[in-house]
Amino acid sequence: MDSETPQPPTGTRGGARGGVLRTKSVERSIRDTEEPEHALRKSLSAWDLTVFGVGVVIGTGIFVLTGQVAKTNAGPAVALSFVVSGVVCALAALCYAEFASTVPVAGSAYTFSYASIGELPAWIIGWDLILELALGCAVVAVGWSGYIRSLLDTAGASLPASLSGTSGSGGFGFDLLAFLLVLVLTGLLVVGMKLSARVTSIVVVVKVTVVLIVIVAGAFYLKSSNYQPFVPPAQGATGAQGGLGAPLVQLIFGYRPTTFGVWGIFTAAAVVFFAYIGFDIVATAAEETRNPQRDVPRGILGSLAICTVLYVAVSIVVTGMQKYTDLSTEAPLADAFKANHSPFFAGVISFGAAVGLTAVCMILLLGQTRVFFAMSRDGLLPRMFSRVHPAFGTPYRSTLLLGLVVAVVAGFTSISELSELVNIGTLFAFVVVAIGVVVLRRTRPDLPRSFRTPLVPLVPVLSVCASAWLMINLPGETWVRFGIWMAIGFVIYFLYGRSHSRLNAGGPR
Ligand code: ALA
Repeated sequence: MDSETPQPPTGTRGGARGGVLRTKSVERSIRDTEEPEHALRKSLSAWDLTVFGVGVVIGTGIFVLTGQVAKTNAGPAVALSFVVSGVVCALAALCYAEFASTVPVAGSAYTFSYASIGELPAWIIGWDLILELALGCAVVAVGWSGYIRSLLDTAGASLPASLSGTSGSGGFGFDLLAFLLVLVLTGLLVVGMKLSARVTSIVVVVKVTVVLIVIVAGAFYLKSSNYQPFVPPAQGATGAQGGLGAPLVQLIFGYRPTTFGVWGIFTAAAVVFFAYIGFDIVATAAEETRNPQRDVPRGILGSLAICTVLYVAVSIVVTGMQKYTDLSTEAPLADAFKANHSPFFAGVISFGAAVGLTAVCMILLLGQTRVFFAMSRDGLLPRMFSRVHPAFGTPYRSTLLLGLVVAVVAGFTSISELSELVNIGTLFAFVVVAIGVVVLRRTRPDLPRSFRTPLVPLVPVLSVCASAWLMINLPGETWVRFGIWMAIGFVIYFLYGRSHSRLNAGGPR
């Protein structure tokens, strides 16, 4: 076991050894991954990572949220919302790629901030990533279960309302399908990454094919009148979109909350941001990549580029097939075909969506277990969770624990507000990563970086501003929930993580 004391990167932080800003050196981060009991198998290539990225990125966002925000926030201009969100993600991706190629170990933004900014910010990010990944997985599992129920209905079968989730029973209900999906996926992840990656590749092919079917077949049903007006005029918000449900930016500046118009494009961008979540998770698999220095940046930027093009194309096609006011909020892509009397395509799309969401769910769960694994290996969470299985080479204890928790959350939760909470957590992680790039350039200019973020500090600064802009376009109540979650995280860190950290000279080794 490593008995090293904390290593300040420049010598300037020696006084912070026991403090919340102590950092874990990059060399130590990499060396920790080589301890046999705590080492993951290195088997992934750039292609695997791109498939992995596309596998998680295309999901509930494009299959469900496109219709919802077109109908309630942006109209056909939802295509512009995807461009706005895509730009925010591209800026963040340029920062993520540099960090991932410099610190190629499991844990994503958590690991990066531990090596650059300090332990408390790293903890905050890890805690925050739990929100993104675990809750995101639960949201997608519930969306998946909705598609499966819709397919079952078509086949003339149905589940009792009490086992169909909160929406099916009109109040309390257990979502049996979502619960079972998460349990099965947990089992696959425990058995091994290789098997999971192979299953994922097949699912990704199905999912991309379905998206291409929407674009190509849907192009034959476009009506120019559906694009009038392309940016619907702003109108006063009602019901859930008023009060604390209004975007924070409108509350701060005292505007009367509105929907549609130019504000609506940004409100929609903050929501459809969910559709891009996942490209950053490619970075969490860095430790399992054969050549992380070269392949991780390629995997991140490649999957993001592919998805942006597909999203813009799909939203243009769908809002051209059906008037935005008539779009369905549950299965908008399939229902746009039904509205154009093409039930065959509608069925194929529903099936493909259900298959695709399976992969999204699995990869979110995988990313989550890897962050948990990294935090446990550092002693911020109990070390027993970072033991890898002797035969499968996977962190089976953290996978089982998280899988069970996510399954229960998926069984008892509804989608809508949770997805906004997931977005705010992820955007916050983007802010920290962008700051981390600038900090690490100053504290460790000597480290080899196979990918360098262009125009530092301009691009990281733009990334921080862009992510913060989307964050303040989320509802005030989402900020309140986020604040509560982070407060709980602080309590756990000061009661457990700080004293058990492996960087703590007196703590467990
Ligand atoms: N980006 C993923 C989705 O849209 C999380 O479902």
